[in-house]
Amino acid sequence: MKTRSQKYPHLLSPGVIGPMSLDNRVVLPAMDMNMCEDGEIEQGDIDHFVARAAGGTGLIITGCCAVAYPQGAASTKEPGLSEDRFIPGLKALADAVHAAGSKLCVQMTHHGKVARVDTLNDIPLMVPSAPRVTPDMSAMADNTPAELQKMGAVTAGKTATFHEADHDDLDWLVRCFAEAAGRVKAAGGDAVEIHVAHGYILGAFLSRADNKRTDEYGGSLANRAKLTCRVIAAVKEEVGGSVAIIVRVAGKEYGEDDGLSTEEAAGAATLFQAAGADAIHVTGWGRNPFSNFTDGPLPDKLGAYIELSAAVKAAVSIPVIAVGRVLPEIGEKAIAAGQADFAAMGRQLLADPDLVVKLKAGTPEQVRPCINCYVCVQENFWDATPLCAVNPALGNETLLPLLPTRTTRHIVVVGAGPAGLEVARVSAERGHRVTVLDSSDRLGGTLWFSSLTTPDNGRLLRWLASETKRLGVDIRLKTEATVASIQALSPDVVVVATGAVRELPHVPGADLPHVHTGDTLRALMTGSGDVSQVPLFLRTMGKLGKLSGITKSATAIRQITRKFLPMGKNVVVVGGSLVGLELAEFLADRGRHVTLLEEGQQLGVPMAMPRRWTAVRHAGEKGVIIHRHATLQRITTDYVEFEVGGKTLSTRADMVVVASGVSAAAPLADQLDGKVAEVHVVGDATEVDYIEGAIHTAWAVATKL
Ligand SMILES: Cc1cc2nc3c(=O)[nH]c(=O)nc-3n(C[C@H](O)[C@H](O)[C@H](O)COP(=O)(O)O)c2cc1C
Ligand code: SF4
Repeated sequence: MKTRSQKYPHLLSPGVIGPMSLDNRVVLPAMDMNMCEDGEIEQGDIDHFVARAAGGTGLIITGCCAVAYPQGAASTKEPGLSEDRFIPGLKALADAVHAAGSKLCVQMTHHGKVARVDTLNDIPLMVPSAPRVTPDMSAMADNTPAELQKMGAVTAGKTATFHEADHDDLDWLVRCFAEAAGRVKAAGGDAVEIHVAHGYILGAFLSRADNKRTDEYGGSLANRAKLTCRVIAAVKEEVGGSVAIIVRVAGKEYGEDDGLSTEEAAGAATLFQAAGADAIHVTGWGRNPFSNFTDGPLPDKLGAYIELSAAVKAAVSIPVIAVGRVLPEIGEKAIAAGQADFAAMGRQLLADPDLVVKLKAGTPEQVRPCINCYVCVQENFWDATPLCAVNPALGNETLLPLLPTRTTRHIVVVGAGPAGLEVARVSAERGHRVTVLDSSDRLGGTLWFSSLTTPDNGRLLRWLASETKRLGVDIRLKTEATVASIQALSPDVVVVATGAVRELPHVPGADLPHVHTGDTLRALMTGSGDVSQVPLFLRTMGKLGKLSGITKSATAIRQITRKFLPMGKNVVVVGGSLVGLELAEFLADRGRHVTLLEEGQQLGVPMAMPRRWTAVRHAGEKGVIIHRHATLQRITTDYVEFEVGGKTLSTRADMVVVASGVSAAAPLADQLDGKVAEVHVVGDATEVDYIEGAIHTAWAVATKL
């Protein structure tokens, strides 16, 4: 039998890329941190990468660095590689990463048509050929005014213009890349990664869809790959033998017919190897970020690009790096099966920098999971530093390690949802004694419920459950918390994490038995609260579930409801925010005829933008009928009436689910005021802000107790 630490023998084995030896096969892929001032690397960046290096990651790749900074940069906060003044910052980073036991690779790019700094500076965007199609940006209808304003501010609202690169430009580009690599070498970097994907200039030259040239840089694959091959050769001449050269290429471009195919990517990889590349890093790219961002570069599917890396690996004899939701078990399997040589884990390493240390220690269950929520990358759309929904220390690594408490206190937490469990976890980790009370029969609160529609949330719940158990938190389920019962526990501090309150709309018929809020649905599933209003079919499910233990498992409920969901055909969901949108899609997926009514314009808020765009598209594809600017007027036993643009409309409804009217309230905290020494409120009870709000408010309180 395998011992726990032998579970990842391939992933944790040493590897070699060109002249660079690595301790293991786990790679931090490039992720923009947007922390630089005028192109120079700052301490925040160094802290971020060092945390991942100290956490055991074999290779650290920086976010995009602009070879011609500020020209060709996507953000003014991006690191520059165009002048020697950037070398000291790079050297400080390389030294710190080495001291932490890892190796440093610097990603080099010119952003081409995505170089927003050029637009800001009134410079036309450099492209192989002027774009012929304007991308469909209709998904932006779901952006809030604040988001639109922040996105527009990046280019000061200026409109992009284009410049088809001429031969002088191409010679200049090749020089820029080579000189940039020379500066990485001077700074002590171990590798460079040449970015030939994601629509940036070299990727655009490679792609048939972007490159319509008729000269020797357009047409055949060899012609389209020529510019990159020239860059590789020039970089090789400048630094080859001492600095490894990695080339990042899309194994597939998604969303448009004439995007780069996997066959072409594999063919290009052989040309790159011949030109001098030491490794190929296989990413993926959705050609229109407003429609395909969740296909690439940040896929929502686990192991999304493994087959692409396998195809490239079959074509070359240099190492291949796989990326795209490569969890440790997926990376281990892919390397063992010869589909990749290295596994890059992006968001998972944002969520937990100590992943490799934990794998090596044989405690993979301690790795804090990424929940694929896209909160981090959303910040990049307006040049800000990524935030992580589950790791509040991202972007501010000085918050870790957690400071042990000087005085152990008894913390009583009311509510075992995400905020309550995070308070418990952090407090216990810091050395406090913690008791958690929850009236339901299971952990998780809204997190458990949301894992029905969003399975990735279940991973966070399992982690919080196992960490609080490991840390000895005393969790008391099916326990009502009252002022008296709390006082009886003699707490030093009480943290109220009882979640939001939900109100039915003030319209005729809102009190009919087929009208539900998240509370009544959850009451049934969790077996707590008043279920008298829950309809017969759900009560039946609940009983069946209780008998067989089905309702304990979100996975089982997800599967069983695909075959058996004894409810009427027509469902109206009132409120198109995150919860309403996900529920609408969940029910439509199970054959229900769903109408979604949203009072405002945007759907899916506060879901992070790229995921929101996909969720709205999916809901439409699955047949959800969406009405924006819709005001609910009346609910009858068979119909729902609502008004859109001055017209009254109606639709059949066997069931109505109200996902609006959610607000923060913590009446228990008011009752406790003056009766216990210290009271705090966290999560939706203080401000309704989904998982990110729950974890961040909990962390803010628990790190100060
Ligand atoms: C916040 C953020 C910023 C990113 N910035 C870059 C970048 O600068 N260059 C790049 O090639 N890819 C970038 N990516 C894509 C990642 O390198 C990686 O390919 C992607 O996140 C998929 O891997 P994952 O599923 O393990 O996160 C970024 C991803 C994130 C989450
Ligand atoms: S913000 Fe969300 S997607 Fe990004 S790393 Fe954190 S959990 Fe993962």
